[in-house]
Amino acid sequence: MGKKLDATALINGFKGQDILSIAQFDQPRLFLIFALAKQMKQLLLKNKSSDLLEKTITTLLFFEPSSRTFSSFAAAARRLNGTTIDILNPSQTSSVAKGESFSDTIRALETNTDCIVIRHPEIGSAQKAADAAFFVPIINAGDGAGEHPTQALMDLFTIYEHHNTLQGLTGVIAGDLLNGRTVHSLLKGLSLFEKNTIYLLSSKQLRIPRVDWLHFQNKGLKIVEIEKESDIPKNAHFWYWTRVQTERFKNTDVKKIPEHPVITTTVLELAGRQTIIMHPLPRIDEIHPDVDRDPRAMYFRSQIQNGLPIRMVLLSLVLGKI
Ligand code: CP
Repeated sequence: MGKKLDATALINGFKGQDILSIAQFDQPRLFLIFALAKQMKQLLLKNKSSDLLEKTITTLLFFEPSSRTFSSFAAAARRLNGTTIDILNPSQTSSVAKGESFSDTIRALETNTDCIVIRHPEIGSAQKAADAAFFVPIINAGDGAGEHPTQALMDLFTIYEHHNTLQGLTGVIAGDLLNGRTVHSLLKGLSLFEKNTIYLLSSKQLRIPRVDWLHFQNKGLKIVEIEKESDIPKNAHFWYWTRVQTERFKNTDVKKIPEHPVITTTVLELAGRQTIIMHPLPRIDEIHPDVDRDPRAMYFRSQIQNGLPIRMVLLSLVLGKI
């Protein structure tokens, strides 16, 4: 009974809430979302329909390109019989093109919707949208090099499904640690749990800023910076690879893209039998396609598939439908 009441209180607490950062979650809220996502997966597996989001409208406001996040939010709403207003490239297709301010745009859009999911190139833009909105919750679908909290939820859920815990883990996070928003959110999420050790592998130019490094250490996350693949610890629970975020480089010059770690079938030999290989995608050249068929490679399996149930849960929670 006590547990049921606790769960009800947690669920009620989500209604109308903005989802801006993974740091706003704690362990009970994460495990609640995972339990509900498991139920959503069952619903999807059994091909059962649900009217949980009937008569709701979610606006998908994407100032930056997206394949996965956009389509899985759209699918999440529609699988639960909700609808979406899809606004892609609003700098050209909305009244932003006429000079309307960001805040006024959010206030105009919230008039016709129950929730706004926003992706934008500027760090802090989702917070700005939340500050502007009077009536509807805002979900951050990626704010520049800042955060990507819904990706972190699916990443943490994937690790949890495979290893049945989120503490005492050894992980490797590689690639663009400076600009990768999924990395920032995942590190924040892992720092909510105890005794995790994360090895960071990147070129010098793409390391996480020292201040963030110290912040995570203070939170109890043990961070070890390594310089080459041969320094990867044996039997890590997960490898999390990312691409170099060239769109964040000013005056991008392809020749100046720094050296970055690549998983080839040879590098994969350094992984343990239980190591899962993750990537938020899109992948450019940092994981060789030959790795895709390895049963430990989750980026085209459970990791990407978890986007839909996690977003079905989140929309249902913030819209007060669970
Ligand atoms: N992982 C991710 O955010 O992918 P998209 O940019 O395609 O949405």
